[in-house]
Amino acid sequence: MADRYLTFTATAPGRFLTRRLGLPQPASLRRWSAEAPGFGGGVLHLTAGKSRLSGLEFPAPSDAPAAVVLDATGVQDVEGLAEVHSALHPVVRSVAESGRVVVLGAPLDPLDHHQAAVQQALEGFTRSLGKEIGRGRTVNLVRLTSAVAAESTLRFLLSPKSAYVSGQVIEVGEAQEVTDAQEVTHVDGELPLTGRTALVTGGARGIGAAVAETLAREGARVVVLDVPGASADAERLAGRLGGRALALDITAADAGVRIARALPDGLDVLVHNAGITRDRRLVNMPAERWSSVLDVNLASVLRTTDALLGTGALRPGGRIVATASIAGLAGNAGQTNYGASKAGVVGLVRSLAPRALAEHGVTVNAVAPGFIETRMTAAVPLFIREAGRRMNSLAQGGLPADVAETTAWLAHPASGAVNGQVVRVCGQSLLGA
Ligand SMILES: NC(=O)c1ccc[n+]([C@@H]2O[C@H](COP(=O)([O-])OP(=O)(O)OC[C@H]3O[C@@H](n4cnc5c(N)ncnc54)[C@H](O)[C@@H]3O)[C@@H](O)[C@H]2O)c1
Repeated sequence: MADRYLTFTATAPGRFLTRRLGLPQPASLRRWSAEAPGFGGGVLHLTAGKSRLSGLEFPAPSDAPAAVVLDATGVQDVEGLAEVHSALHPVVRSVAESGRVVVLGAPLDPLDHHQAAVQQALEGFTRSLGKEIGRGRTVNLVRLTSAVAAESTLRFLLSPKSAYVSGQVIEVGEAQEVTDAQEVTHVDGELPLTGRTALVTGGARGIGAAVAETLAREGARVVVLDVPGASADAERLAGRLGGRALALDITAADAGVRIARALPDGLDVLVHNAGITRDRRLVNMPAERWSSVLDVNLASVLRTTDALLGTGALRPGGRIVATASIAGLAGNAGQTNYGASKAGVVGLVRSLAPRALAEHGVTVNAVAPGFIETRMTAAVPLFIREAGRRMNSLAQGGLPADVAETTAWLAHPASGAVNGQVVRVCGQSLLGA
């Protein structure tokens, strides 16, 4: 269902009228395309405090850069925070439409409450600037200790691929040892997922189909898994992407074993995307609506993860990307079942991530979409749908491609230092943190 308000505000009379009425002003977001894969114009690199990073280099900026990076890793006290203000205050206005501000911070020091206070202050700063900056521009915070380990993350955040990711705090750990199986080829124009096999559950349509397309575009062999009833769509898509379809209900008790059998050479990227809603307020919710949602969205994610990690089908250097939702972070009326299932996904990711990396060399992260324009949200009643679209800093819904680009970044071989993260793709929704 097209966003007619967005189309209307893109016209001169529409912009005039909606401004006069004080209505939201969504900008037309600049997204990735093969013709325009980057912003160009370099990166304005600013520093507050004495940087703790070495080797952080960006192409020189033009007069009106689309991207600003503020390195605040060395900010230790409240006086240092004043430098955050003095660095960004003069330049924020000149950041191009649909541009990026990325703040770099240090991990909070549990033994130094002054450092922890001011580094946490960067989070409130980032989220507040994200809410006021407007014109399709995004603001995110990356906590890091190594510029090398954060390279793939900065590349993503400073590109049109992160158009709908704003107000996020992403922690990047230490660089992972690169083994043969993990050879990093993450350079513009190359295909970082070449030689990798990626399985996308619920891949026949909506967000899952976009994820399959994007992973294939980046070089992966994709396996599009969906229920037998969606076989025609799954096969058509897989055929177009040079991959294969797998007709399987993910709630089957032996789904993991059947996936492992279908992929005897193993798997590198597992995207848990299949999901359903069966909305009702708890007072009206029959047990069947509860259990079907918990089964598809959570129990099957737990079962297949265990089976594919346990059998070694998911190879070292592998990536698991699960799909949560802002409903799992903020809660949503009529979605106790769905909210519980998606919060469960977050719990799974946070608990499993360190062990999966240590024991299997596999990272585990989640994307948490906000309002994304799909069949699922087209079915939402009109007024709730309009509210969902506007109640975020970018004043519009996201596209399946926005979730897909975020998934691809997490799936890259170069993203091994990103682990246990829940990244919202929600245009900085007003719901939840
Ligand atoms: N659309 C949004 O705004 C939004 C927001 C937050 C989270 N999400 C999550 O993103 C994911 C994709 O959502 P979407 O909007 O593309 O949904 P969709 O309904 O368009 O697509 C879901 C796909 O999953 C498949 N599927 C359902 N049950 C399955 C099962 N048992 N086994 C295998 N496949 C199954 C469906 O056949 C379908 O192809 C879901 O996990 C959803 O909860 C979506």
